[in-house]
Amino acid sequence: MSPVRTRLLRAGPEAVAEAAALLRAGALVAFPTETVYGLGARAFDPAAARRVYRAKGRPSDNPLIVHVASSGDLPRVVRRVTPLARRLIAAFWPGPLTLVLEKTARVPAAVTGGRSTVAVRCPSHPAARALLRALGEPIAAPSANRSGRPSPTAAAHVRRDLGGRIPLILDGGPCRRGLESAIVDARGRRPVLLRPGTISPERIARAAGAPVEAPGRSAPAAPGTKHRHYAPTCRVVLVPPALVRNGALGRVKTPRAGLVHRAPFSGKRPSFVRRVPGDVSAYARALFSSLREAEAAGVRTLYVETVPDRGVGRAVMDRLRRAAAR
Ligand code: TXA
Ligand code: MG
Repeated sequence: MSPVRTRLLRAGPEAVAEAAALLRAGALVAFPTETVYGLGARAFDPAAARRVYRAKGRPSDNPLIVHVASSGDLPRVVRRVTPLARRLIAAFWPGPLTLVLEKTARVPAAVTGGRSTVAVRCPSHPAARALLRALGEPIAAPSANRSGRPSPTAAAHVRRDLGGRIPLILDGGPCRRGLESAIVDARGRRPVLLRPGTISPERIARAAGAPVEAPGRSAPAAPGTKHRHYAPTCRVVLVPPALVRNGALGRVKTPRAGLVHRAPFSGKRPSFVRRVPGDVSAYARALFSSLREAEAAGVRTLYVETVPDRGVGRAVMDRLRRAAAR
């Protein structure tokens, strides 16, 4: 892959028009969404999709999410909008919810990893919406990180991973949610949660009018979730809040340690500390950028405080466990 000059432009109307022109020509453009930054390509162009896999270093069996400007674009992408999908769309679109449905013939196998289903979502970020409208067709976009790395929640993160590989990054500031969308298989009667997100399972169940199911043998989890993920270059160790509060962590003599926490900390502070006080949503927003900051600060072992595994915390813990897996 020969290096290209990567420009970073504020996501104003001119930059969006330029991004749309690049996409139309088959090039890749990174753009902000409310969850994380996406690496976009024309969804109906298999060659552009293959470029996405190459730029990310992503295994080709891990399908991409197709982004649409509104539910009006769905007939081009999915064969049937199930009653369950309708309810979820009414409740959460535009927003951080991705639906898995049967795909149309138009969606190339390169986008879906050869599957008969497609993952589709309608983002709420104004720049993403403006870009979709300017292009006038759906955009396939995974998170704009190199495969396996923490998802980018700021334009600078994208530049660090994909600089020299893509011509343009639209800068829309930090992402409001900070974690990727929830993914729900909506083909049946009950929602099957393939990846938790910042829309909690409880809210999904309420909108669906049916309990949320875990992926079973018949409906495997999103293929991407089986790969090692969200890994900064430092080792991630999860610690419960009690160990942050009671000073036990302050006695650990790990060289070049770092800490990301919510609870008040006592004991000797490591040189890298990010405190993210407040609710779990704030913690979710700051998580990936904290991992990247720790890495940039030369941290070798990063202690990260856990949160209760419910509501938005379910998504936080899902990502944290993957970051800590080795
Ligand atoms: O918030 C998000 O969803 C962000 C922004 C950019 O929209 N995108 C994102 O894409 O997180 P990515 O590629 O990093 O994650 C997509 C996930 C992967 O785990 C993939 O396996 C799953 O979606 N996926 C895609 N198509 C699928 C399908 N047909 N069935 C099951 N899972 C699918
Ligand atoms: Mg990703």
